[in-house]
Amino acid sequence: MPDPLILGLESSCDDTAAAVLRGREILSSVVMGQTELHAAFGGVVPEIAARAHAEKLDLAVEEAVSRAGVALADLDAVAVTAGPGLIGGVLSGVMLAKGLATGLGKPLLGVNHLAGHALTPRLTDGLAYPYLMLLVSGGHCQFLIARGPQEFTRLGGTIDDAPGEAFDKTARLLGLPQPGGPSVEEASKEADEKRFAFPRPLLDRPGCDLSFSGLKTALLRTRDKLVAEQGGLHETDRADLCAGFQAAVRDVLREKTRRALALYLAESPAAPAFAIAGGVAANKAIRAVLETLCAEDGVRFTAPPLALCTDNAAMIAYAGSELLAAGETADMTLAARPRWPL
Ligand code: KG4
Ligand code: ZN
Repeated sequence: MPDPLILGLESSCDDTAAAVLRGREILSSVVMGQTELHAAFGGVVPEIAARAHAEKLDLAVEEAVSRAGVALADLDAVAVTAGPGLIGGVLSGVMLAKGLATGLGKPLLGVNHLAGHALTPRLTDGLAYPYLMLLVSGGHCQFLIARGPQEFTRLGGTIDDAPGEAFDKTARLLGLPQPGGPSVEEASKEADEKRFAFPRPLLDRPGCDLSFSGLKTALLRTRDKLVAEQGGLHETDRADLCAGFQAAVRDVLREKTRRALALYLAESPAAPAFAIAGGVAANKAIRAVLETLCAEDGVRFTAPPLALCTDNAAMIAYAGSELLAAGETADMTLAARPRWPL
């Protein structure tokens, strides 16, 4: 029997997305962003996001089905993000998915958005369970052991900000363009990472929890001190501040990943593997130290392509395919959940 053809829908934040997958093959993946709608407000406005999802979701579905070269009637199931996220958008997705599944007489699959991110390394690299995952973006930072489509062990995570958010804040404080990650990484090249001594938060505490808010404060203080002393910032100051900040994030992620790997390897997985996903995974300095750690421990290192690390519906369709295989279908009582921890 051929792999099932699955339509995925994603509308939990500020991307309206639809995708069609056959097994692990992505036949189409449409992502309609809303960045320009929220730009003037300095963040995602839930009401605006909800309206845009309601207007765009059916267009995204039409586009995804047409690009995949299939007909709606060919679909074997409809998967949708049922949470966590902004409730207006999640509701739009869940209602459309219920309508489609009922109209087509096909199974409905309710997917946890975070599980979608966490299962992406299986879609892109075919990782076997259990694998260790570091989800690190503008909104997330956590270590998970993925054991099954609905089975995750959280080893630790940030107790305050996510690293991407700290990169963005750093760029803002130094007058560099957004998103901050790429500009801070670029400015750090050939700069002196040792000139400013930034803290390595929580390294003195056991476990895999992380903290990044103190790092932001340290950067702000150092910047203000330089400005007070010199009357402004020189190009080299900016570069050295960026490099010092990035080195601190890198060192903290390295040490906490080392600890998470030790916990994971203590379970003697048959095919040990580590995946890093999320926008911050694009950072070459961070990636390099984690890749080296894995190599030292004989653990396979993977990082899904960026387009599949950021919000998309291919990951939702894929996670749905695992639910379908496990017989975990939903029905018309499927609820949209603003909160839904893994
Ligand atoms: O996963 P993502 O696209 O969106 C969510 O946060 O949901 O991650 C975006 C974050 C931003 O904070 C951005 O500054 C950060 O990822 N980022 C980076 C790099 N590229 C993007 N951080 C560090 N280094 C980079 N090269
Ligand atoms: Zn996401």
